[in-house]
Amino acid sequence: MGGVTGDRGELRVDYVPDGEMNETMRADKQALQEVCFADVPVEELFETFVAEPIGSVLAWSGEEMAGYVSVFTRSIVFKGQLVRLGGYGGTCTRADLRGQGIGARVCGVAMETLHAEGCEIAMLAVDKDGSTNRFYERQGYRVLGRPFEIVTAKGQRISPDDVAMVAPVTSDDIFRRVLADTRPLFLGPDKGYW
Ligand SMILES: CC(C)(COP(=O)(O)OP(=O)(O)OC[C@H]1O[C@@H](n2cnc3c(N)ncnc32)[C@H](O)[C@@H]1OP(=O)(O)O)[C@@H](O)C(=O)NCCC(=O)NCCS
Repeated sequence: MGGVTGDRGELRVDYVPDGEMNETMRADKQALQEVCFADVPVEELFETFVAEPIGSVLAWSGEEMAGYVSVFTRSIVFKGQLVRLGGYGGTCTRADLRGQGIGARVCGVAMETLHAEGCEIAMLAVDKDGSTNRFYERQGYRVLGRPFEIVTAKGQRISPDDVAMVAPVTSDDIFRRVLADTRPLFLGPDKGYW
């Protein structure tokens, strides 16, 4: 395992680069994902959630996976300027362990990872019902307040139904300019989002 690690009590939280994920980790993550995101339509997984993570933050309670988040980076062009964008997606805590700060710790390590990766700003997508807004606001994210656009697996440019939230990582300036802009935030040319 590598990257940023945090420890408190019996919970272990590790950032694991994708190349260091073993079969057990992948299987445990997949099993948790199926429980946490059972309501996500399969076609969305194949058409829009197609970005490849650079790694995952995994939380372990003893031998059992308690939570995870997938970490992403890419470059986008914002107002003619190349911007290093990071983010994380699929935040998930085992249902019986929620409300104990595991999600916050996992996201905290993900933000440290984005910092170490040299990302200038971070973006994530939430449901438009707003139920997780406060959770991510505590991680420094703010609602973008306008649509974002992505390139689908088939190469179409679309505006997903989700709401984008953005946070500063190494650049407050770019963060402020992205928030102040009025045009949809384009996450291409890389395909998909998280
Ligand atoms: C969102 C989630 C990762 C939070 O994990 P967690 O370990 O409970 O997080 P924490 O203990 O650090 O923080 C809990 C906060 O999350 C909020 N929360 C948001 N969505 C929640 C949900 N579906 N269930 C429980 N709590 C939720 C809680 O209300 C609490 O906020 P509060 O302190 O303002 O009341 C977890 O609830 C989960 O796995 N949900 C299902 C998957 C999901 O919806 N992921 C988010 C995709 S954007």
